[in-house]
Amino acid sequence: MNKVTIHAPATIANLVCGFDILGLALEAPYDIMEMRLKEEPGITLSSSAAYDLPTNPEDNVAGASLLALMEAYGKPIGFHVHIDKQIKPGSGLGSSAASSAGAVVGANHLLGNIFSKEDLVRFAMNGEKVASGVKHADNITPCIYGGVTLIRSIFPLDIVPLAAPPLYVTVVHPQIEVKTSDARQILRKEVLLKDAIKQWGNIAGLVSGFLKNDYGLIGRSLEDVIIEPVRSILIPGFDEVKQHCKDAGALGGGISGSGPSIFMLSEQASTAQKVEAIMKQVYERLGIDYRTYVTTIGSAGVRVEPMC
Ligand code: HSE
Repeated sequence: MNKVTIHAPATIANLVCGFDILGLALEAPYDIMEMRLKEEPGITLSSSAAYDLPTNPEDNVAGASLLALMEAYGKPIGFHVHIDKQIKPGSGLGSSAASSAGAVVGANHLLGNIFSKEDLVRFAMNGEKVASGVKHADNITPCIYGGVTLIRSIFPLDIVPLAAPPLYVTVVHPQIEVKTSDARQILRKEVLLKDAIKQWGNIAGLVSGFLKNDYGLIGRSLEDVIIEPVRSILIPGFDEVKQHCKDAGALGGGISGSGPSIFMLSEQASTAQKVEAIMKQVYERLGIDYRTYVTTIGSAGVRVEPMC
């Protein structure tokens, strides 16, 4: 096999209270990539017309991730990667992570799966460094592992995949761009102890809620007293969307990654649909273009299929 198709899913990082440590994979949307081994060593990149992605490997998130993999491989090897981006960059839905994770999972397949998932996360973190200046792994890990993941520590890497009950995820992506690097820049560098205590309680509550299939506990724990008060100012309609969706029966939700997308979790499909209608109403009234998704947690992560 020397050619594969890759589906790399969108992800939601932070899960409200777990800044940089929690994330989940979505069933949709996903980027579609094609990758093949080539005779000449090195990386060549191409992309669909929709987005002008850098073609120099060092500046491209997929390229930077592959360079890390190739260094670990140690022998001369060549890849061509074609990226058909379905997840808009700057959406807060893990667009850069999808390209980074998709590229290294695809390459690993072509090389006979010699690297572990943890190795692949380490390689793909180089893509996040290119995208946002920081090697965070809360989008990459669920993208590679699927489901819900906890990153207990990044250096050294300690990944904990978490079981979770069935959940519907509704996402609205107002069509404004928030750069992760900017959304990190505005955060306060220090937190008050009383806020840290609340946040610890919520993170522990959310993880317990997932493991115990306790929807009520999941809902109560979707609270962020540190990041959301600062970042939500960048997202028009945020407070209204959140409040109205909770009133309609959503368990809770908040900013997806660094925004501007907002996500809401629901126990029932019918609630997830109602939540979508509310999100649409808010952005119609505000006159801001938007896109919505009603989906579920994606259990598989990046999927790879051989091509003839
Ligand atoms: N944890 C990162 C942040 C995710 O919130 O900055 C970025 O998608």
